[in-house]
Amino acid sequence: MAKRTLKIFRFNPETDDKPSYKSYTVEPEGWWTVLDALNAIKWEQDGTLTYRRSCRHGICGSCAMQINGLNDLACEKQLKALPRDPIQIDPLPGFEIYKDLVVNMEPFYAALKRIKPWLINDEPPPKRERLQSPEQFKQMGTSIACILCAACTSSCPSFWSDQEYLGPAALLKAFRYTFDSRDMGLNDRIEQLDNKHGLWRCHKITNCFTACPKDLNPPEAISRLQRKVVSEKM
Ligand code: SF4
Ligand code: FES
Repeated sequence: MAKRTLKIFRFNPETDDKPSYKSYTVEPEGWWTVLDALNAIKWEQDGTLTYRRSCRHGICGSCAMQINGLNDLACEKQLKALPRDPIQIDPLPGFEIYKDLVVNMEPFYAALKRIKPWLINDEPPPKRERLQSPEQFKQMGTSIACILCAACTSSCPSFWSDQEYLGPAALLKAFRYTFDSRDMGLNDRIEQLDNKHGLWRCHKITNCFTACPKDLNPPEAISRLQRKVVSEKM
């Protein structure tokens, strides 16, 4: 495969006055992803380049970053799907930058914790597991496939303007539990959901839908959750 150039955002707050871009050229194999290119740069050209990655299989969500201006997973985006050079790589927007492509994910995890992302059910457990029919399982839709990569929340203008906003990923997780037939925790979550930093901050801009590398649909989940919360209050 022909040589490719990556123009990568670089910033070390401990030594740099301001961010800059640095270009690197790699000689990729045909199957390389953006993450393979970043690894080649880090391992063979510049060990100071800093980014997150772990599974390399689109499962852990660690490698979310901006690729040519769009949030995506570096380990899933193949270079051959990005025909023009240079390929520009930036950190996820909306978060404080720790170094290069590594951002402070604390606001993201703090929002997630606020909606209590676990099964809430005070009834005594049955002898075996709490069962669910296929129809009940379908109510959760594809929300169970979320890998918490933050590509959605980071692409959301409502989150950029309000860091207290729960954001699409946390709201999708709230949907996942609220529509789980085994969960009884809506009352425990409703205070966080039903306020100006919760469900009602979503203006259906749908950047999150476009950004999600797993083709999930946070805006639809948020709409269903909004209707559920309103019906609970009636
Ligand atoms: S909804 Fe999609 S983009 Fe958002 S955290 Fe989950 S997998 Fe990532
Ligand atoms: S390295 Fe795990 S999702 Fe990309």
